[in-house]
Amino acid sequence: MIAKVLVICLAIAMSECLPKTITLNNGKQMPIIGLGTYQATGDVIYSSVINALSVGYRHIDTAYLYDNEKDIGRALKQVFSEGRIKREDVFVVSKLWHTFHSRPLVMEAMHKSLDNLGLDYLDLYLIHFPFGLKEGTNETTPVDEKGRVLFSDVDYIETWKGMEDVYDKGFAKSIGLSNFNSKQIDRILGMARVLPVVNQVECHPYLNQKRLLDFCSQRKIVLTAYSPLGTGRLLNETKVLDIAEKHGVSAAQVLIRYEAQRGIVVIPKATSRKYIEENFHIFNLTLSEQDMKDIDSLNQNLRYNVVDYAKNNKYYPFNEPF
Ligand SMILES: NC(=O)c1ccc[n+]([C@@H]2O[C@H](COP(=O)([O-])OP(=O)(O)OC[C@H]3O[C@@H](n4cnc5c(N)ncnc54)[C@H](OP(=O)(O)O)[C@@H]3O)[C@@H](O)[C@H]2O)c1
Ligand SMILES: *[C@@H]1O[C@H](CO)[C@@H](O)[C@H](O)[C@H]1NC(C)=O
Ligand SMILES: *[C@@H]1O[C@H](CO)[C@@H](O)[C@H](O)[C@H]1NC(C)=O
Ligand SMILES: *[C@@H]1O[C@H](CO)[C@@H](O)[C@H](O)[C@H]1NC(C)=O
Repeated sequence: MIAKVLVICLAIAMSECLPKTITLNNGKQMPIIGLGTYQATGDVIYSSVINALSVGYRHIDTAYLYDNEKDIGRALKQVFSEGRIKREDVFVVSKLWHTFHSRPLVMEAMHKSLDNLGLDYLDLYLIHFPFGLKEGTNETTPVDEKGRVLFSDVDYIETWKGMEDVYDKGFAKSIGLSNFNSKQIDRILGMARVLPVVNQVECHPYLNQKRLLDFCSQRKIVLTAYSPLGTGRLLNETKVLDIAEKHGVSAAQVLIRYEAQRGIVVIPKATSRKYIEENFHIFNLTLSEQDMKDIDSLNQNLRYNVVDYAKNNKYYPFNEPF
C-alpha cells in the first residue's frame, strides 16, 4: 500500500518534473517541444504555426531549404501583432543550407533567412549538414550535366567561423550543429570560440542515438530529435501501441514523451490542429522505467534520412558508428 502510494507520488513528481524548457550551455532556455515544419509551405504552414502558438508551443523549427520561412514569418507577424505573444517568447530555429558553407556566405545566408522570416535575430542557427555543395548557384542541390551532385570542399571548421561571425553580430542568440557525428563534433569543439549548444539529429526508437546522446551530454550539448515519429512510420509499432493503450494516449504521444523524458528536445511535425495539439500534450504523461526499456529495445540503427548522394564525400557524417 505504502509502496503503491510512493510509486504514484513519484509518478506525479516526475511528470511535474518534466520542465517546459532545457538550459543550454550558454544559459539560454530552449523549449523542449518544438513544431517541425519540413514539407509544409504556404497557407498550410501559416495556419499550423498560428495553431501551434495558440496551443502553447513556443519553439518553431525551420530551415532555408524548407522554402517556408516567409510563410512562418507571416504567421509570427500576425501573432505578435495581436500582442499576447511577443518575439522574445518564441524560440525560432533555422538552418544554413549546404550551398553557403564558406565563411562570408554564412552571413549572407543568415540575412536571407532573417529577411524571409521578418525577424532581426534567430534564437538558434544550425549548420544543416557537415558537407557543403557548390556555391554561387540558386539551385539547392546543384548537379552537373550528367546529373551528378556538385560538392564544395569547404571544411565545416571554416563554416563554424562564419557561424561565430553571425553570433558575434547578434543575428543568432545561439549557434549549433545538425547531422554531425561524434568525431566531427569533437573537431568543432577543438577550435570553437563559441560553443555549439545543440546537435539536431534523426532520433526515434528505431535509431535511438544512445551513444551520441551520452557523448553530447558529456560535452554539454543538447540533442534535438528530428523525425521523432520516424516520419510517421513508427506510429504502427506494436510495442509503442501497447504502451500507448496502457496509458490511454496515442502512439505519437508515447514517441514524443520518450524523447522528452531522455532529456532530448523534440520537434514533431504536424499540420492539422488535432495532431499539433496531441503532440504537445505530453507533460502529464509519465512512462515507467520499464516502458522506457521496452522502447529502447526497439533500436536497430535504422536511419531514414541517409542522404545517399553524399555517401562518398569526406564530410559525410553517417559512415561512423555514431
Ligand atoms: N536537421 C535535419 O536534417 C532534419 C531532417 C528531417 C526533419 N527535420 C525537422 O524535424 C521535423 C520532424 O521530422 P519529420 O517531419 O521528418 O517527421 P515526424 O515529425 O517524425 O513525422 C511527421 C509525420 O507524422 C504525421 N503526424 C504528426 N503528428 C501525428 C499524430 N499525432 N498522429 C498521426 N500522425 C502524425 C505528420 O502528418 P501531417 O504533417 O500530415 O500532419 C507527418 O506526416 C521536420 O519537420 C523538420 O522540422 C530536420
Ligand atoms: C539567383 O537569383 C537571384 C534572384 O532571383 C538573381 O538576382 C541572381 O542573379 C541569381 N543568381 C544566379 C547565380 O543564378
Ligand atoms: C507498419 O506499416 C508498414 C507499412 O504499412 C509496414 O511495412 C510495417 O511492417 C508495419 N510495422 C509494424 C510493426 O507493424
Ligand atoms: C493532460 O492534461 C490536459 C489538461 O491539462 C488534458 O487535456 C490532457 O488530455 C491530459 N493528457 C494526458 C496524456 O493525460
